[in-house]
Amino acid sequence: MEQKIKELTEKLNYYNLMYYQKHTSVVSDFEFDKMLEELQSLEIKYPQFKQPDSPTQRVGGTISKDFPTVKHKYQMLSLGNTYSEEDLIDFDKRVKKGLIEADFSFADVEYVCELKFDGVSISLIYENGLLVRGVTRGDGVQGDEVTNNVKTIKTIPMRIDATRLGTEFEVRGEIFMPKKVFEEINQEREEIGLEKYANPRNTASGTMKLQESSEVAKRKLDAFIYFYYADNIPFKMHSEAVESLENVGFPVSNTYKKCKNVEEVLAFIKYWDKERENLPVETDGVVIKVNRYDYQNALGFTSKSPRWAIAYKYKAESISTQLKSVSYQVGRTGAITPVAELTPIFLAGTTVKRASLHNANEIERLGLCKDDYVFVEKGGEIIPKVTGVDMTRRGLNATPIDYINNCPECNTILVRNEGEANHFCPNSKGCPPQIKGKLEHFIHRKAMNMDSLGEGKIELLFEKGLLRNIDDFYTLTYKSLFGLEKIIVDEQTGKSKKIGFKEKTVENILAALEKSKEIPFEKVLFGLGIRFVGETGARKLVEHFENIDNLAKATLEELSNVRDVGERTAQSVVDFFKDDENLQLIKNLKNYGLQFSQTNENKIIVSDDKLAGKTFLFSGTFSQSREDLQNKVLQFGGKLGTTVSKNLDFLVAGENMGPSKLEKAEKFKITMITEKDFLEMIGENTTININTNVISDKNKSNSSQKGLF
Ligand code: IVH
Repeated sequence: MEQKIKELTEKLNYYNLMYYQKHTSVVSDFEFDKMLEELQSLEIKYPQFKQPDSPTQRVGGTISKDFPTVKHKYQMLSLGNTYSEEDLIDFDKRVKKGLIEADFSFADVEYVCELKFDGVSISLIYENGLLVRGVTRGDGVQGDEVTNNVKTIKTIPMRIDATRLGTEFEVRGEIFMPKKVFEEINQEREEIGLEKYANPRNTASGTMKLQESSEVAKRKLDAFIYFYYADNIPFKMHSEAVESLENVGFPVSNTYKKCKNVEEVLAFIKYWDKERENLPVETDGVVIKVNRYDYQNALGFTSKSPRWAIAYKYKAESISTQLKSVSYQVGRTGAITPVAELTPIFLAGTTVKRASLHNANEIERLGLCKDDYVFVEKGGEIIPKVTGVDMTRRGLNATPIDYINNCPECNTILVRNEGEANHFCPNSKGCPPQIKGKLEHFIHRKAMNMDSLGEGKIELLFEKGLLRNIDDFYTLTYKSLFGLEKIIVDEQTGKSKKIGFKEKTVENILAALEKSKEIPFEKVLFGLGIRFVGETGARKLVEHFENIDNLAKATLEELSNVRDVGERTAQSVVDFFKDDENLQLIKNLKNYGLQFSQTNENKIIVSDDKLAGKTFLFSGTFSQSREDLQNKVLQFGGKLGTTVSKNLDFLVAGENMGPSKLEKAEKFKITMITEKDFLEMIGENTTININTNVISDKNKSNSSQKGLF
């Protein structure tokens, strides 16, 4: 029976490949479905023989309760954006300058131009030819594991027969919803009286978050792959990798082109500006990549994006409509956002009723007057923006919009700090939307992850006076919650709904509150809602200061010196800890048992300075993972290099090190050592064990108890 299952799996996968990649039907739909059904029933009877690349996974059937967070092996960076030809010419100049600085001589730099597909980026990991993991971009460092959903995308291969790509490799691409599928779904929704989806990109993104993979399968997502990563890349340039991916069966868009110079790049952009409308997928620009890998390596990365690639964005579609009024929203941090209330208009697939005006400067810049007709544009974001005033339709007696002076919610006089664009309501502790915003932020999935408290419950608890500050969450009891209820009306649909605290709900909330006491410090810090401290900022601060006492004591200068923490964030942190009420809040939260020091799973403590001042680069394969070796460099006070350059002290050569690295190492006269040499340098095989150098969280929080709180 095992043989039969294997045979069916292979055949069906072959038919799939021919159909989706080569657009050839080898068998009829009827035959295909019959074979698939046969396989499905055999797999139910003999689950032990189900193949890991079984095509039955394409139809889904699994339910993911939640998507585990997975750290990316190679960080998923984004790209710098440009909107003009001049910017691209500057980019080309920067590339060339960088290459000269890295001692490359070249006639011209070859680029690869690809379309920028507007979907959700995905990282796919293959091991021994099998698709083992699909992970969303997340914050670039870690994302959600959505493998079961990825497997429902028929063009993504579950098995690849390509030894050349290596036993372990990663490809990246974009998952998208074809325009046609999007239109069909929306038509169906309209017919059954449901609100239409905004655009294909958001729908694709929402689909990938669905817990039932069979639902995902129904949405007919597709993907284009545009990147290949491995520890040892068997190619000299990006175009070779992409060609190879295409040849072995990955879905690669055939729209990419090698361009010999920037003029050819500009021609590519011009050609696709119109032509892209005929593509089955939405595109919002062109990605330009330096083709040669050695050039890419020499150019390296900034903290956010590669220096060897850039995205050119096409201008968004725009339309004009009349301004009815300006309303003002108060955010969690007290920031006021003016919003244009518009005569509804259809734009790029959706009806637009409101558009962001950002701030008072923007209103001034636009010279916005009452009853003006304005141009509305939908960029990458969901909320459209007002980009200009249609002066041809302005009335004779147009009067400018007066910006408000008082908070629309609590009537406090607004302030505007120097150098900041937004007005603020300073009444952070008394202004209802600010309080509610802070409470909602605290329970957010990325903070304390207590969604059992969402959906209007916070509003109700706020109204009942049970919640005023985030530490109040921990005073909630069965008695105080049970039986509370309220009817709310959904603004959009007009439907009313009952929010209630029944027995089960209350139990869930109390359990979530208890569980939140184990949430790591970085998330707690993010949850505190300190202005400008985002998810990444919180992580960086925690990595650097380790516990709340150190953070609270940090000076403006110390804070500004933390990588990726700007002056503005630093000032905001200082201000936060200057406020006695905040100090009391933290003290209370600490007493309730929340985490205020780092959990040190991956933290490397410098235990020795044997390698101080020395920079190392690892290339090739080693007996232990490269990450472990790199951690050892850091542990012994050394630094890690990213490319072979003059600044490198040692190149640790593993098996199959690329020839270009070797060539460069010789050119720069860099000392090359083996893995064994390196381990000897640090006295490995005696007592080193990273885990023994990890300070346990419990010890650390105890040792910091004598601090400020
Ligand atoms: S390359 C390090 N190529 O655009 C460079 N990205 O702003 C990684 N995208 O997150 C990206 N089409 O989601 C690349 N042909 C393409 C792309 C593409 C769409 C998206 C991708 C990425 C974002 C970069």
